[in-house]
Amino acid sequence: METEIVRIDPGRAREPESREILRRAGEIIKSGGLVAFPTETVYGLGGNALDATASRRIYAAKGRPSDNPLIVHIAETADLERTAVEIPESAYALAARFWPGPLTMILKKHPDIPTETTGGLDTVAVRFPSHPVAQELIAAGGGFIAAPSANRSGRPSPTTAAHCIEDLTGQVNMIIDGGEVGIGVESSIVDLTEEKPVILRPGYITPSMLREVLGEVETDPGLDAAADLPPEAGSGNVPAGPGPKAPGMRYRHYAPQGSMLLVTGDEAAMVERIRQETAQALAQGKRTAVIASRETADAYPGGVRVFVAGSRHDPAEVAHHLFGILRACDEEGMEMICAEGFEEGELSRAVMNRLEKACGHNIVRV
Ligand code: TXA
Ligand code: MG
Repeated sequence: METEIVRIDPGRAREPESREILRRAGEIIKSGGLVAFPTETVYGLGGNALDATASRRIYAAKGRPSDNPLIVHIAETADLERTAVEIPESAYALAARFWPGPLTMILKKHPDIPTETTGGLDTVAVRFPSHPVAQELIAAGGGFIAAPSANRSGRPSPTTAAHCIEDLTGQVNMIIDGGEVGIGVESSIVDLTEEKPVILRPGYITPSMLREVLGEVETDPGLDAAADLPPEAGSGNVPAGPGPKAPGMRYRHYAPQGSMLLVTGDEAAMVERIRQETAQALAQGKRTAVIASRETADAYPGGVRVFVAGSRHDPAEVAHHLFGILRACDEEGMEMICAEGFEEGELSRAVMNRLEKACGHNIVRV
């Protein structure tokens, strides 16, 4: 398949020349094709959410197990009612506060949404993104776009069009380059189908922000489960039981090709441990990297490739850079990667969740 790459300046998404491109992109979606596009969190790989064949194509393009459901993206809150049924008051309250934005809600599925889109589940994930290109594309594409992150299954989610080009050239009809995304980690997911709301994936919308609207909210205890299935595990291999509730959180994800260790705890002890680990790796002749904070970046021996993710006191900055750094580790052929833990501020949960998955739960607490 030929992949067309087009560029839209997000600030000009509603200008006539952008609309013309988006109209064509919308036609691709409506006729069952696939378009990668920017959102405020990460790039998405979009297809018509109402079309079972389009959803199957998404799974194939990503190399994703078909039991890992897709998020349905809408461009007006009213369309929630064409996506879900038995919608609780809490969903409207969350929509009023956080939509459009980086929050996904799990609700009971509307019969018009094919089970191919929801990975066989009778629940559906719904999100109304704030990115103007995403909004215009959803509207042009008929209102309901199923979109996982636009990476090959298992790889870090794409935060630039270059990442999508790397992973999806030949697999999608069009890639819309809208520049670098703002947030850099995927949306927070909250499940509203149980008695109490449960966070299935931590993101930019933090537990305390959700609590302001919902009162009570829990975090899925299964997120800490150590075992990650390989992404190619496929349908039927997901064990029931204590793992994460969101199917996608059970799979290995983000892992670079080199081996990776996450070191958390007291800052000085953490730096010391990483100094030891990296010195050892260098002595073995390994290409060695550290994912560090700006404050501690100078602490590591010469010969180590230091990636500065951001300030230790600013998890939003770290979130913004993380996936690009994980990809760069592969591009630069890093064989041993040590990541510092980032534990300051509530948003650091979203960062740590991605780091924990990237290192396959290979974690040392000092
Ligand atoms: O920020 C985002 O959410 C991005 C952009 C493109 O919107 N999308 C994204 O999609 O991260 P994806 O497919 O990479 O991750 C969706 C996650 C997966 O872990 C999936 O298992 C979970 O949402 N999910 C989807 N539907 C679900 C459902 N009905 N019940 C539980 N988890 C669900
Ligand atoms: Mg993903």
